[in-house]
Amino acid sequence: MDPKKEAEKLIEEMEAEKGITLDAEFREKLKNEIAEKIKSEIERKKREAKRKVEKEGEEYFIRFSLNIRLQHLTLAIGVILLIITGLPIKFHESKIAELFFDLIGGIQVSRILHRIGAAMLIFVSIWHTIYIAFTEEGRNEFKELLPRKKDFLDFWQNIKYMLGKTNERPKYGRYSYIEKFDYWAVYWGVVIMVLSGLILWFHNFFLGIFPKFVFDIAKEAHSDEAMLATLAIVIWHWYNAHFNPHIFPFNPTIFTGKISKERMIREHPLEYERIMKEKLTREEKSDER
Ligand code: HEM
Repeated sequence: MDPKKEAEKLIEEMEAEKGITLDAEFREKLKNEIAEKIKSEIERKKREAKRKVEKEGEEYFIRFSLNIRLQHLTLAIGVILLIITGLPIKFHESKIAELFFDLIGGIQVSRILHRIGAAMLIFVSIWHTIYIAFTEEGRNEFKELLPRKKDFLDFWQNIKYMLGKTNERPKYGRYSYIEKFDYWAVYWGVVIMVLSGLILWFHNFFLGIFPKFVFDIAKEAHSDEAMLATLAIVIWHWYNAHFNPHIFPFNPTIFTGKISKERMIREHPLEYERIMKEKLTREEKSDER
């Protein structure tokens, strides 16, 4: 409401309550003063609300370093390119594949793009190996991703929770068993796809040193694992990372590196507790000094 109208209403109420009529000049002065007070109160409340929103926005944690985010981006672009260009080669007789080849300029273009995607995948695999072998951050991340007994207990707890047998969800640390499974599925997938893909790519060379059945196995493995990898990414990974109702429609953490305090507490409570304890210890130590 307009502050002047609000002031007018207040004065009218006061006059009615006391049974008096104020002098016109005094009334106008009082109205302006009250309107001014209402205006500054509204401004104060607005500023307070803005500060509150800004403060809440500030409460986030850095979950992924730039290095991890760039590795993930390269992997994601490479794999999407491999899927888009590989599946039409596998199903080349289908109408969709024909349409796709018409769109990009033929199957030969698809084969070249597939090799570019393959180069990206090999590049990011080497990058990741160097990262976990030679950097402290990489070694720590790798240790966090190793499967532990707790992951199996968490899995069991989650099944019970989803079946309504318990109200308690498993409490995850930095990585849940779901995320660990994702990570190790990529390891497995990359080894199979790169080895079999190299045999297909440099078939003349490999047919010179291995019998033909090795080539046949590589082709079969590449073709089947491609389907498994595609379904694992679209169903398992995209559901857990983006389409899960808690997160839908999009989870920006792997692109921005940031996770909100609220999501941190809900999805990684043990990691949250660890970070807060470390923060407290640091603060206590600096107070002692
Ligand atoms: C997630 C990763 C990958 C997916 C989903 C994928 C998918 C596919 C599919 C579906 C095919 C068709 C197979 C068939 O004819 O039945 C194919 C062919 C092929 N892939 Fe991959 N691939 C991947 C990674 C790689 C890698 C890493 C390499 C090389 C190192 C590679 C090299 C090849 C080659 C050379 C062919 C034969 C294509 C041609 O006829 O020229 N692929 N890929």
